[in-house]
Amino acid sequence: MKKKIGLLFGGRSGEHEVSLVSAGNIAKSFDTELFEIVPLFISRSGNWYGPIPAEEIATAKEEQYADLQVILAAQPGGILLSAKDGHEICRLDAVFPIVHGTYGEDGVTQGLLELADIPYAGAGVTGSAVCMDKVVMRKILAYHNIPQVQFTTVLRSQIEQDMNAAIQAVESVLDYPVFIKPANGGSSVGINKAKDANELAEALRIAAKYDRKVLVEQGVTVREIEVSVMGNEQPMVSQPGEICSSNEFYDYKAKYVDNKSVAVIPANLPPETIVRIQELAVETYLALECEGFARVDFFVEEGTGNIYLNEVNSLPGFTDISMYPKMWEQAGISTTELLTRLIAYAEARHEDRKKNSIDC
Ligand SMILES: Nc1ncnc2c1ncn2[C@@H]1O[C@H](COP(=O)(O)OP(=O)(O)O)[C@@H](O)[C@H]1O
Ligand SMILES: [Mg+2]
Repeated sequence: MKKKIGLLFGGRSGEHEVSLVSAGNIAKSFDTELFEIVPLFISRSGNWYGPIPAEEIATAKEEQYADLQVILAAQPGGILLSAKDGHEICRLDAVFPIVHGTYGEDGVTQGLLELADIPYAGAGVTGSAVCMDKVVMRKILAYHNIPQVQFTTVLRSQIEQDMNAAIQAVESVLDYPVFIKPANGGSSVGINKAKDANELAEALRIAAKYDRKVLVEQGVTVREIEVSVMGNEQPMVSQPGEICSSNEFYDYKAKYVDNKSVAVIPANLPPETIVRIQELAVETYLALECEGFARVDFFVEEGTGNIYLNEVNSLPGFTDISMYPKMWEQAGISTTELLTRLIAYAEARHEDRKKNSIDC
């Protein structure tokens, strides 16, 4: 019997489109001898539809699927029900949630899958939430002495009440240029670089549109280095790759619009830097409670060679040109093999969790 894998994609975040491309690639790469894919589309408004034809994943639109609306029962069993009349559509053996950003990558979807008691690929509730919140992530990294740039936090309420005080608070700990980021975000949305107080004020206002908490970081001149990690308690790590951005920094345009940013795999780095980055990637992965898979992103400072942990993506892009699958391919692990392993890690975690007693 083939295992039924719910491929959950789309979603309510700004990264909806990227998810469609990632899911299209995943659907065509799964080993069809072992798995039957059940594509489940989450519209921008948050409704679920499926199973939709695999060849329509990349172009899925809510209007097409009125009759296919489904609900995942939030109780053990992994049962997918028709929203129309409540009849059972199928039981899912596992889910691959490739829903980037808010409501997908932040522990919310993972919580639903826990309630439904279905194994799912990638980090659990805690790991997902921690990787999504850049401020919480930085505090945990500090506890583990993982090198990172200097940072400070500003709340939206501070920005609204007294912008000058907010600017002074930043200037008292950081030098220009600084990077301003919503604590929860992705794809560089709401992120800006500021070279003076005026730019900082504008950037704080923009970031505060996306989140109550705003992270401000010391700007550094860097090379951007990424590694792929997979596994549960004993993760394995790929060779690093490098992103050479087409813009001043790796913003939304450089990521998805220009098509001019170049990936170099493996990155051309001194051997000792590679080893250090790989060690730090595994330490970080475990410290942040990642499971299954994640892409760990670093900065290597021009001139000094200092290594800084930038961020961890618990549901990295999975398109056929995305760094995560590409770095494994370079290591001789095809995307098909990778997906089979990610389902196995999901099942292993699910089995392990059953050992936890919930009795008093
Ligand atoms: N402290 C920093 N110094 C220099 N460049 C930065 C800094 N922080 C972010 N950047 C640039 O902005 C990009 C997006 O920031 P990042 O924190 O990775 O956000 P996202 O989660 O949206 O990818 C990075 O890839 C890098 O190009
Ligand atoms: Mg990033």
